[in-house]
Amino acid sequence: MDGYLKIEQSRFLGGEVPLVGAKNAVLVIMASLILTEGKSKLSNVPSSHDVLQMIKLLKELGAKVFFDKVARTLEVDTASISRCKVSKDIMRKMQASILVMGPLLARLGKADIALPGGCVIGTRPIDYHLNNLRKMGVTIHIEGEYLFAYTNGLLPQRLILEYPSVGATENCIMAALGAQGTTQIINASAEPEVLDLIKVLQKMGANIRMTPPATIIIEGGATLKPIEHEVMYDRLEAGSLLLATAVTGGSINLPQAPAYSLDLFLMKLEQMGHYIEIGSDGVGVRLKATRSPQAVSFKTAPFPGFPTDLQAPMLVAQSLAHGKAVIEETVFENRLLFVSELQKMGAFVKVEGNKAFVTGVDELYGAAVNALDIRSGFALLIAGLAAKGITTLSGLHHLSRGYESIQTKLIGMGATIEHIDEHLTSPVVTTQSSYMKEHR
Ligand code: UD1
Repeated sequence: MDGYLKIEQSRFLGGEVPLVGAKNAVLVIMASLILTEGKSKLSNVPSSHDVLQMIKLLKELGAKVFFDKVARTLEVDTASISRCKVSKDIMRKMQASILVMGPLLARLGKADIALPGGCVIGTRPIDYHLNNLRKMGVTIHIEGEYLFAYTNGLLPQRLILEYPSVGATENCIMAALGAQGTTQIINASAEPEVLDLIKVLQKMGANIRMTPPATIIIEGGATLKPIEHEVMYDRLEAGSLLLATAVTGGSINLPQAPAYSLDLFLMKLEQMGHYIEIGSDGVGVRLKATRSPQAVSFKTAPFPGFPTDLQAPMLVAQSLAHGKAVIEETVFENRLLFVSELQKMGAFVKVEGNKAFVTGVDELYGAAVNALDIRSGFALLIAGLAAKGITTLSGLHHLSRGYESIQTKLIGMGATIEHIDEHLTSPVVTTQSSYMKEHR
């Protein structure tokens, strides 16, 4: 998405809002289809830019893909996959491209991948992926901007992750399915999106189980078959919309929200004074914002800790709460960089290393700000909705990577947002009533 958003102060956002499928689940599930030969069908697939990039990647490998954006269904026929190269262009646009490495090695014994390089939230190393694949019998050469990986047969191993990396856990699980025998992954990630991947692999016929505290056991070597799967709803979109409502003083109902995967986040919202009601089976969340939010401190951590992907919008909520909060970012080193943009809007935040010291202010003020990554883009968007005056938000390509038409959804909740695209002669305006018509 080009251009910028012109955001006006908007009070009391809310209503009953549908969610889309989880970006972080669907990307890896799409990669996992490489392990099968035939046609699989995924439903609840969001049309975010990263999903479109993953479609492009799968097509480059030789898959046939059909995406019905309206029905949100994706058919992928992997029978004709024969290539194993991920281009620089795709890797630069989407770090998650690295997730095809494990399944390509399991299926073709080969993967040529452009190196991911850095990105704004940190250096994004892939050493856990590479070291563990080497342990499984993969030879890896790095030449210029490419890494060339091949194996004459993957070996089952006892793999130990230094940190429960989401991507490394996913890549190792998928590679292990190509190794005859039992692989264990110690200190594995247990994020809900990893569990959704495991569910998919089990449907394919894989034998995978988890043992406490954090070990995944994979019996490799089985022939895996195509599947049908409904992708889990996006807990991060749910958290984002709850925060949009909290900072604008509204009330919202998210009937599909996987509340069971947001415990700590929801507890922090309650501690701020917001009223939270959770569906009886752990699905569905209602929030009614307090008029007098209290600041709360928190620290990001792997699941079930506070999700790093909700740190930036939660920091915006603290900047408008009564009192002081200390926020510690422990997952990605640069995820507090966006604070300098928020300061332009009058937020009182001091950053020291990976900690932000926030003192709540009565008002934020509109300013020209720039999204640095997906989640900071959303954080600045809701800061603009809460702020007095007009905010302009640029760097929109970040937002559309992770969210499907998020500004349209917010407009449906009562926000006043205009998309100004300099390439077009007039602004792209979506009104609340046109949104309602489209989504009835
Ligand atoms: C995934 C999510 C992202 C989320 C993150 C943490 C996807 C597509 N993206 O990213 O939205 O913010 O999990 O919940 O699912 N690390 C290394 N070496 C490695 C791999 C990771 O040092 O080989 C470090 C990273 O730099 C980071 C930390 O480990 O500091 C966590 O990264 P990881 O869990 O791997 O995140 P991603 O899978 O990239």
